Order: sequence, then C-alpha cells, then structure tokens
Amino acid sequence: MQVPINTRINQRSYELEVDARTTLLDLLREKLDLKSVHRGCEEGECGACTVLLNGKPVCSCLVLSPQINGAEVLTVEGLMKDGNMHPLMKAFVENYAMQCGYCTPGMVMTSYYLINTWDDFTEEDIRKGLEGNLCRCTGYTNIIRAIREAKKYKDAGYWW
Ligand code: FES
Ligand code: FES
Repeated sequence: MQVPINTRINQRSYELEVDARTTLLDLLREKLDLKSVHRGCEEGECGACTVLLNGKPVCSCLVLSPQINGAEVLTVEGLMKDGNMHPLMKAFVENYAMQCGYCTPGMVMTSYYLINTWDDFTEEDIRKGLEGNLCRCTGYTNIIRAIREAKKYKDAGYWW
C-alpha cells in the first residue's frame, strides 16, 4: 500500500509516496541516497542505522516510513554546513575515533544528541549513552575522547 507523507529531512521538506512496509533505513538510503545511514543488523541491535527523529536517536531499521509523516529527521549529511564538517565530526577525525568507519555515522548521531542534551557528563555517562551503538574496531576509547573534545567545542561556541 502506498502512503502519502509530508516530512522534513535534513532541513528540507519532502512530499513523498512511500510503501507502508518500507523502513526509514531503506527510504533514506535507497530512495533519498543518504548513504551515511548504514545497514547493519536490521533488528535494532547495532545502532549503525541511527538517525535523529524529532531530535531523538532511533534505529531507522525499526521505523516504518509512514511514521515520519509530520516529523523531522536528521542524518550525518544534515550536520554538514556549507560543505564543512560539523565540529563533532571534526572531533571524531582529530581523535582517530574510527577505524573501519561502519559504526561512525550512528555514533555521531547518538553523540550529537547526548552532547546537546547534557550540560555535563562523565565517561560513565558517555559509555551508558552509547550502549545502543556497537563498535567492533576501536575499543571505544577514542570515541569517548572525541565526544569530550566535541563538548569543549560546544562550550566554546563552535557548534551548530
Ligand atoms: S541496522 Fe538498525 S540497529 Fe542495526
Ligand atoms: S570503527 Fe569499525 S565498527 Fe566502529
């Protein structure tokens, strides 16, 4: 069944006809070519497909496209500004917070939410906040360092 939806994705408005069975993951990757949204387990376990839905992290593999009607979706592509990396992405690069990079877009989106939500946080808070995002390469240490550095950027006003 085709369903009409109105939605905003990465600050842009869309009127779309979607198959009611299409996941948000498939809509973003296959129809809208937003390839930062990675396909991992497709059962809500790995976090590789994480995007923000109305400002909160969700596994896009568990959301059906009609559910984004009237909603706002943000992916890593939407964090870019005038072709520049977001300060959070810069912190990930500067702190070598990735190896294969498969988990990275999901990590970035969850981290963006956490940094925007918390006034302050400990390493333990970060570990807990990231528990839905699995990384098989880095051991998480550099990811945690990157998040701490990104928070400093935010506190210094270098953020959007
Ligand atoms: S692909 Fe969605 S949680 Fe793994
Ligand atoms: S960098 Fe390879 S899974 Fe995280």
